[in-house]
Amino acid sequence: MKTIYVPVSDPYEVRIGPGLLPTLGRTVRSLCPKASRYVLVTDTGAGPHWAGKAADSLISAGLAGDTYTLPEGEASKTAANLVEVLNFAASRHLTRSDVFIALGGGMVGDLTGLAAATYMRGVDYIQIPTTLLAAVDSSVGGKTAVDLPAGKNLMGAFWQPKHVLCDTDTLSTLTDEEFTSGCAEVIKTMVLFNADLFDRLYREGKAFDLEAVIARCVDYKQDVVSEDEHDTGRRAFLNLGHTMGHALEAESGFALSHGQAVAIGMATVCRAAAKAGLCPDDVPRRVEAILEKFGLPTRTDIPFSAIVERIRSDKKRSGDTINIIVPVRIGACVIRPMGIDEAREFIKAGF
Ligand code: GLY
Repeated sequence: MKTIYVPVSDPYEVRIGPGLLPTLGRTVRSLCPKASRYVLVTDTGAGPHWAGKAADSLISAGLAGDTYTLPEGEASKTAANLVEVLNFAASRHLTRSDVFIALGGGMVGDLTGLAAATYMRGVDYIQIPTTLLAAVDSSVGGKTAVDLPAGKNLMGAFWQPKHVLCDTDTLSTLTDEEFTSGCAEVIKTMVLFNADLFDRLYREGKAFDLEAVIARCVDYKQDVVSEDEHDTGRRAFLNLGHTMGHALEAESGFALSHGQAVAIGMATVCRAAAKAGLCPDDVPRRVEAILEKFGLPTRTDIPFSAIVERIRSDKKRSGDTINIIVPVRIGACVIRPMGIDEAREFIKAGF
């Protein structure tokens, strides 16, 4: 097992390894000693495999509670479902000292985190990521949100979890497509921070050591988040490929997974950066090669004009400026603020 400390305003640990789910009850007892009830939120993907085991552990530790199951998929990450979860908690008499448990991927973690942030003005929650994407990125750092019709994550709050319990056994029930989607965020982390691990990942392909790679990604993430908890500076690095990725995800009606969309966004930005002379030509070549090796797309048929409209409403935009994360080599990127028109021409060059 590996433990990563996240030194934000209210610090917490991320534990990563097999066989951790049965320790959930003990963990809640020690971190939330006044809690007597829980609401566990899951989805139809993770719930049937893991919710029973999680509930058994909570009940053995003397907690009482109920499970709320959302339909699997990003389409469930709505304000209406957030209100459903809040009403469910109220109907089960959850109090301020009680706890939400998020058992699932990014959709479950983001929505449950926002429920915890807003229920009675804020209660504790524990993240149990059951997808690779959630394990390496969304479960850590306290970004919580639901989507609005105008775009992804437009309604949200920063609310850090009390703990992240990443039982790597839970990743065994992922489909190949779900696992592959998470690999895009792993590749993103290596493009941002570590050329040696990028090369190693390329050599090993999907047979990489799950616990070790998740721990490295979480360690990079905690370093960024602890310096810039509220996303006003360096945290923007984590958005490599995401400006276009979020636009693609929404424009495809979520037919493209988050990982597929980020892969296309990352490849596009790398091609654009090389064309603009901001990085060597081998950067897009190597990034495309690793994405292809992992079975991720590097281009799309969605028209560029549709994507530009989505980018205009991107929440990462500030006034008329948008921060585009641009690679200078594998393992090092810079944040380049661009005007909307400049960003459009830049991205178009790599499209
Ligand atoms: N997923 C990007 C962030 O947490 O900032």
